[in-house]
Parts: sequence; structure tokens; C-alpha cells
Amino acid sequence: MSTVSTTSAADGQLRPLVPPSPVTLRINGQDHTLQLAPWTSLLDALREYAGLTGTKKGCDHGQCGACTVLVDGKRINSCLTLAVLQEGADITTIEGLGSEHALHPLQQAFIDHDAFQCGYCTPGQICSAQGLINEGKAQTEDEIRELMSGNVCRCGAYVGILAAVKEVVDAKR
Ligand code: FES
Ligand code: FES
Repeated sequence: MSTVSTTSAADGQLRPLVPPSPVTLRINGQDHTLQLAPWTSLLDALREYAGLTGTKKGCDHGQCGACTVLVDGKRINSCLTLAVLQEGADITTIEGLGSEHALHPLQQAFIDHDAFQCGYCTPGQICSAQGLINEGKAQTEDEIRELMSGNVCRCGAYVGILAAVKEVVDAKR
């Protein structure tokens, strides 16, 4: 949750310096109008206000990739952008990529290749891999490794992650 700067009013109550205002975000094809302080990150808006906790908070500083989502098909670290800047954009989170009964090909490939252990990095890995596929740049294992290097896996499931992403990249050719 975002820190809220406050000031003391005459009645002694703490009030936000800048009150929350409505921000409409299009997430997974649905509009969500959320009452957000202007400094709320997209990551906090998704997790704390829209209730979409599939997107994970790791470092909150753009260093781990756990918070990766797609904005207009491009992968971004949602901890590094303000929610208010994404009004009008098409935001896709892990919840929008597939469902329990109709897994996205990347989700199925991650299962098939045992590409996770604790699973904390997995939503970010999968959204990042979809962004990578959208970019159409990575074809070889070395290119996938390089272009997925912003997504850290503390369990070290990199062998499986690489195999899963490569399988889907190859299938899209
Ligand atoms: S939580 Fe955003 S990059 Fe780590
Ligand atoms: S599966 Fe645990 S951090 Fe990647």
C-alpha cells in the first residue's frame, strides 16, 4: 500500500495532503475505477486496490521483475510506473493471460518443464516471456537468457524457465 502523506487538521485528525481521486484502469479487458493517491504505483493499484494479487512485489525498485505486467502488449515493471499514467492503456496481468481451465501456452509450458519452485517469480516470468514473444526479437537460448535477464528467480529455476520459454517461442515461429 502506498504511504500517505498527512497533515493535522484543526480537529487533530490526520488527513491526506492530496486526497485520493478516481483513476480508471482497463485491466484484463475490464474497467476498474479506483480511488488512488497520485503517487500510487501500478503495482500497488493492482494488488491493493483492484485485488489482483497474481502480480508480485519483490524489490519494489525495478530490480527483480516479479511485478512484470503487459501494458499495450509491452512488458513493464509495474512498481516503476504510476497507476495514473496508465489510464487509457490496456493492462494485462497474469490473471488475464489464461485461466484455470484454459491455461495460456506459457503457463502450460512452465508446468511441463518444472519451471518454478516457490512460484513467487512465476507470474512476472510468464508476463515477461509474453512480452518477449510480442517483441519478436529472441529466437535462440542465448537471446532468451539475455532478454529475460531482468526477471530474477531466487529458487534458481532458470533451466526450466528457459526450456519453457524456448518451447513457446519456437511454436510461434
Ligand atoms: S517488484 Fe518491481 S522489479 Fe521488483
Ligand atoms: S520459483 Fe521461487 S523465485 Fe522463482
